[in-house]
Amino acid sequence: MAGGREGQVLQVHTEPAYAVNLGLSLADIPDALVDVLAPPRQVRLVSDERVYALYGPDLTAGLEEKGYRLAVDLVPPGESSKTIPVWADLMNRWAAENVHRDDLVLALGGGVIGDLAGFAAAAYVRGIAMVQVPTTLLAALDASVGGKTALNLPAGKNLVGAFKQPLAVFCPTETLTSLSPTDWENGLAELVKTAVLTDPALFDRLEAGPLTGTSPDLTAIMARAVGHKIRYVEADPCERGIRAHLNLGHTLAHAIEQASDHAIAHGHAVAIGLAFISRVAVNLGRLSPEDGDRIIRVLTAHGLPVTTGYDRATLLAAIQRDKKATAAGVRWILPVAIGSCIDYPVSYADLPGFLEKGGLS
Ligand code: GLY
Repeated sequence: MAGGREGQVLQVHTEPAYAVNLGLSLADIPDALVDVLAPPRQVRLVSDERVYALYGPDLTAGLEEKGYRLAVDLVPPGESSKTIPVWADLMNRWAAENVHRDDLVLALGGGVIGDLAGFAAAAYVRGIAMVQVPTTLLAALDASVGGKTALNLPAGKNLVGAFKQPLAVFCPTETLTSLSPTDWENGLAELVKTAVLTDPALFDRLEAGPLTGTSPDLTAIMARAVGHKIRYVEADPCERGIRAHLNLGHTLAHAIEQASDHAIAHGHAVAIGLAFISRVAVNLGRLSPEDGDRIIRVLTAHGLPVTTGYDRATLLAAIQRDKKATAAGVRWILPVAIGSCIDYPVSYADLPGFLEKGGLS
């Protein structure tokens, strides 16, 4: 795969349609925003304290220079901010400060911020416009695109949510340089997932050597992965069918996150989920042992875990509470080759045996 670090713009044909801008810098965002929603306008910038301290003041100053009026809502970093109480505080503050339907919400941060701000924008006065500025690799590749917004409940991850497509997505490159190793690995897990799901050439590229923050093909690879995500979103914006394939590796991942009370990072959990479902697929005779080994090797080469210490009973209980579970059972996404996956429904009666096939006891 060839490609450079020049910016790329990908169009998403949903309602509303919007563009995902990759490879631009933070300083480009005020001008880019003017093209989407002109000032003067009040912008509620939602961020976490850590991200805002790094990037917020410059972005705020740049937006004010263009004529936007800024108000900043900060929450603590981490999954604990993706909850009903934090969201309710935000709603009360917006109401007290007279946020209007023609104002704009700007989410500056990773997936937690995108989900929280997105759900707030979906719910407040039944919906106000929102722009996503993802600052992590994971959020740029996944959460910022496609309109899923969510909060966690004590009973499970993302159990409250809404579909709310943004007006635009701006992915600044410089924020990727301040990511912790775990945050970087979170994005890599999503990339490996996309490759296993639909892109053998991307898998070959990842197999040839781990992607790093300085890889010259970083923006091209991000664009390729986001392009795949867009195809699924356009085909099935509200996840009634094929979009669920993006959940490859995520059923076990959400159970692990839930069991660990989010101490295990999303990407680490997805990597374990991918390794698990690959083992199941090999044991069912649906994936060749060679491809199963390749998936586990690529995950390991990218610094990602491939096993969990949680036992089958704990994970079984969490899986049954997952929002992907139905009255009939659980719909798994099973890899049958690198770049090809199928639906694989499993009844509750068959779930323990299914988990055992993936090495859980
Ligand atoms: N994260 C999976 C999706 O957006 O559908």
